[in-house]
Amino acid sequence: MNLHSSEFAGRMPAYVDRLQHALDQRLPAAAEDPARLHQAMRYACDGGKRLRALLVYAAGESLGAAVGKLDAAACAVELIHAYSLVHDDLPAMDDDDLRRGRPTVHKAYDEATAILVGDGLQTLAFAVLADEPSLDVGQRLRMVSILARASGSLGMVGGQAVDIASEGRLIALEELQSLHARKTGALILASLQLAAVAANATPAAQQALESYGRDIGLAFQIQDDVLDETASTEALGKTAGKDLRQQKSTYPALLGLDGARRRAAELFEQARSAVAALPGGGAPLRWLADFIEGRGH
Ligand code: IPE
Ligand code: IPE
Ligand code: MG
Ligand code: MG
Ligand code: MG
Repeated sequence: MNLHSSEFAGRMPAYVDRLQHALDQRLPAAAEDPARLHQAMRYACDGGKRLRALLVYAAGESLGAAVGKLDAAACAVELIHAYSLVHDDLPAMDDDDLRRGRPTVHKAYDEATAILVGDGLQTLAFAVLADEPSLDVGQRLRMVSILARASGSLGMVGGQAVDIASEGRLIALEELQSLHARKTGALILASLQLAAVAANATPAAQQALESYGRDIGLAFQIQDDVLDETASTEALGKTAGKDLRQQKSTYPALLGLDGARRRAAELFEQARSAVAALPGGGAPLRWLADFIEGRGH
């Protein structure tokens, strides 16, 4: 770890606070009518590791973007992510009762509210980008397009559809890779692409960020699959062992735990080398790759 990378480590708590504050400013007040919906939207956005926002800040920092130009993108990816979790947990999807150490939104509120919370968070994400005064109109439009495509039926939502359709059967490794790249990788890749827009990145820098984003995105879902089998419910803040019970298509199911771990390690290594040619060796992103690789939940 060089000097630059340890600097990002020290700044990480401040970035998490910054994101929390930025979200707080952009979410409707809990008392705003309809208050129950707005309370539930805020409930859905609490907690979490904030890794997608941290990827935005780390990429922006690596390219020298002003931090004030990164907040909208950081909020937007976390809003889409929070919405995706609320819907992922619904009885018609993964049917989970626990998320981020608390009852899922449909348990704490009700199913109709959880569906509407997702709808509200998703549309807010696009409004946040479209309304951001620190970005020029061209940047806002590019960001809306990137996030919409990553979130939609060719990205996250499509991945979720394939995930559900793949329950109870063994799919080929290429199919699983494509599933993971869509359901989880697309939004992680978008986090890097949004930062590239905010920073007016050169084509070479953009390419490096995209390569990093693809590798981290896939590695992240492989890890999620491994942790589902190996970590405790308490550590995860969500019910452990769900994938096996629901006969999900996962990397451990296809490659075994060791094989899945090895594949994730390769991808993290590849991600780190992809950003080595960025200014300062892409130190914040390399540090974040290490941090994500070492996560226990
Ligand atoms: C969990 O994502 C769902 C996946 C896409 C794998 P995270 O592990 O980033 O969830 P939070 O935001 O920290 O709760
Ligand atoms: C979640 O995948 C992907 C999205 C929410 C888009 P999982 O279903 O594996 O996530 P967890 O394990 O419930 O967090
Ligand atoms: Mg799921
Ligand atoms: Mg799930
Ligand atoms: Mg999972």
